[in-house]
Amino acid sequence: MSADALAARTADAFAARFGRTPAGVWAGPGRVNLIGEHTDYNGGFVLPFAIDKTTTAALAVRGDRTVRVASALSGTEAVEVDLDGLRPGAVTGWAAYPLGVAWALEQAGVRLPGFDLLVDSDVPVGAGLSSSAALECAVAVGLAELAGLDGSVRRGGLAALGGPGGPGEPGGPGGLARLDRRALAAVGRRAENDMVGAPTGIMDQYASLFGAAGSAVFLDCRSEEVQLVPLELDAAGLVCLVLDTKVSHAHATGDYARRRDSCTRAAEALGVPLLREVPLDRLPEAQQLLDEETFRRARHIVAENQRVVETVKVLRSEGPAAIGRLLDASHGSMRDDFEISCPELDLAVDTAQANGALGARMTGGGFGGSAIALVPVGDLDKVRDAVLRAFASRRYRQPELFTVLPADGARRLL
Ligand code: GLA
Repeated sequence: MSADALAARTADAFAARFGRTPAGVWAGPGRVNLIGEHTDYNGGFVLPFAIDKTTTAALAVRGDRTVRVASALSGTEAVEVDLDGLRPGAVTGWAAYPLGVAWALEQAGVRLPGFDLLVDSDVPVGAGLSSSAALECAVAVGLAELAGLDGSVRRGGLAALGGPGGPGEPGGPGGLARLDRRALAAVGRRAENDMVGAPTGIMDQYASLFGAAGSAVFLDCRSEEVQLVPLELDAAGLVCLVLDTKVSHAHATGDYARRRDSCTRAAEALGVPLLREVPLDRLPEAQQLLDEETFRRARHIVAENQRVVETVKVLRSEGPAAIGRLLDASHGSMRDDFEISCPELDLAVDTAQANGALGARMTGGGFGGSAIALVPVGDLDKVRDAVLRAFASRRYRQPELFTVLPADGARRLL
C-alpha cells in the first residue's frame, strides 16, 4: 500500500475511534540494514536505509493531560493513561513504544499536551525491519510538531547533512530549538531502552529519521555524523529482496544483551572504551588476550566496521552491483563469529546466493527475522522460487518474500 493510502486509512480509523478528525498524520518508515550489524552499540559504523514500508500515526491534542493510544493492528481498543503517570514499568505491550516516546520527550524538557493517537502500519512486525523504530519515529515527529517544535524537526535531518551550523548539528543554541532529528533519535532510543526494556543501539532510529529515497544512511555511531550514500538500485537493474523467515526474535530477551556483554568484556580487556577503537591489526593481540568465544565476537565487530567503510567506498566508486562480496562476508561473520544467524536465515542466504543473487546476508539483530539479497531484476523469479522450494523441502515455515526500495525518512503525510 502507498504511504498516502495508508495515511488516509489511518485518518479514517482515528475519526471512527475518537469521533473527530486528527490534526495530522505522520509516517515513520521501517529499515533494512545493508551492512554493519551489532556495530552501533560498539560506537562503529552502520549503513541502513529507510524502506517503503511505514508506520503511520494520526494525532490530535486534547485540553488535559490524558493520553489515549489505539492501534489499527490490535482491535483499536484504546489504552488510556495520564502523562504525569508515565514512567518505566508503568506500561507494557505495544503501547510502551508510543507512550515511551511521550515520556522521553518530557524527560528531554518538552512539555506535551494530552493527545489522542491512532497508529497503523504495513511494516511487518518481528521481521527484523524495525517496526519498533518506525512506530517511535512516526510518533516522535508528530508529537514534536504538535508541541511547536516543527521548524527544527521538519527539515533538520536533511539540513544537518550539509555540515556545521545546520539545525541538526548538536550543540546549537539551547532550549527546545535543539530538539532536532538527532535529539528525536535519542528520544526513540530512550523509549525503547527504558520503557520497553530492549538494550538496543541507535541505528534504527537514525535510519527511520534520516532516510532518503535512493540513498543509504552512513552513520558513525560514535560521533553520530550522518552521510547519505547513493543507493540507486533501479538504475543498476537491481532489487533488494527481503526474505522474512518468520522465525520470531525479540531483543528484550537474552541473546542480544549477551552479545552486548561480550563486546563490553572484550573492550575492557583490550583497554578501549568501545570496540570501534580496535583496528584490524590489533586482532592477533586480541586473540592472545581474550577467550576463544569472546575473541570471535570481537573479530566480527572489528571486521564488520571495516566492511561498512569498504561498502561505502565501493558504492561511491562502482555502484551497488559491486558490493555483493561484502554482504556475503558479513553474513559469514555473523554466522560463524558472532553466531546470531539461524538455520532458516542461512538457508535463505545460501539459496539466494546459489541462484543469482549478487550478495546476501541476514539483516537486523538476528536470531530470526529477515535476510536480504541483492538480485538482478531478471533473476528475481528464479531466486524467489528457489528459496520457496528450499524452505518447503526442509519443512520450514513458508517465508514471506518482497522487495523494498530506499525511501524517505519520517515525515508528515497529511
Ligand atoms: C537491532 C537494534 C539495533 C542494532 C541491530 C543490530 O536492530 O535495534 O540497534 O544493534 O539490532 O545491528
